[in-house]
Amino acid sequence: MAKQFTPKLSPRLEGIVELVPEGSRVADIGCDHGYISIALVQRGLAVHSIASDIKAGPLEQAVKNIGKAGLNDKIETRLAPGITAIKHGEADVIVIAGMGQRTIAEILTENMDIAKEAKYLILQPQSELADMRRFLLDNGFKLVKNKLMIEGDKYYIAMVASATESSYPGEDINVTETFRKRFEAMQGTPEIAKVYEEMDMLFGWDLIYTDPKLAYFLNHVDHEWSEALIKLGEAKKPDYDRIKELNTKVEAARLALEMNTLFCGIDKKLFDTLGSEAVFD
Ligand SMILES: C[S@@+](CC[C@H](N)C(=O)[O-])C[C@H]1O[C@@H](n2cnc3c(N)ncnc32)[C@H](O)[C@@H]1O
Repeated sequence: MAKQFTPKLSPRLEGIVELVPEGSRVADIGCDHGYISIALVQRGLAVHSIASDIKAGPLEQAVKNIGKAGLNDKIETRLAPGITAIKHGEADVIVIAGMGQRTIAEILTENMDIAKEAKYLILQPQSELADMRRFLLDNGFKLVKNKLMIEGDKYYIAMVASATESSYPGEDINVTETFRKRFEAMQGTPEIAKVYEEMDMLFGWDLIYTDPKLAYFLNHVDHEWSEALIKLGEAKKPDYDRIKELNTKVEAARLALEMNTLFCGIDKKLFDTLGSEAVFD
């Protein structure tokens, strides 16, 4: 018998797939190549998947790959925009990955009732992570978990959100939440509280307390934003609102790095590549 196709996943896709609880019925919105659905079914994480896309070209690619993987009976393909691809009660998990934050927010807004019925949304916005988290909170979702994926010099964060009472497998949020509250109580001025809030929205509070890899991302954004601040300061007519906003972000990144190294220890590779100054600044 010919060997069946098994997609080789990039670290970004691998991280998204690993967030799906075993035995889920999945909707993979904007499936493109269909790799997420194929890997989920092959690993037993999905018992069934609806792979949908707004465009015929990508969906045809998914249909081909699903056929090569021999999974036509477990993965249904549908040509439709956003969550209109699924009906009430068809999916426990809705995955929307590899799109801009605005597109994801639009997709959710257009069919909020179905999005809220799913046990978990697994979202991987390519940009504007803080806006994504604020959108979810404003619309009644809980932020359940974040996951950082590193691909060369690119950083991706996927997040799990839920508007239901479903408990996410393996998550004990109490420990880190207790630490966070303790820190806030120790330093509770409104200015500090604002930086903490910004820090959580930008980076995901669970990652700050649990993932030593986050330090790489924090260093990366600190450098990027600090350079942008210098440029803004050199402008003939400086945009003071933008400068203030970016300053808060830099402060949040530095606080997050301090907390992250305190709770997770110093990653030896990070220390070797960036040196003690970058880590302890
Ligand atoms: C960059 S690909 C990401 C594919 C895959 N989800 C991943 O993470 O690798 C984005 C896909 O989303 C599709 N897409 C964009 N907007 C969409 C929408 N509103 N509804 C469904 N699919 C959409 C595009 O056609 C494209 O195939």
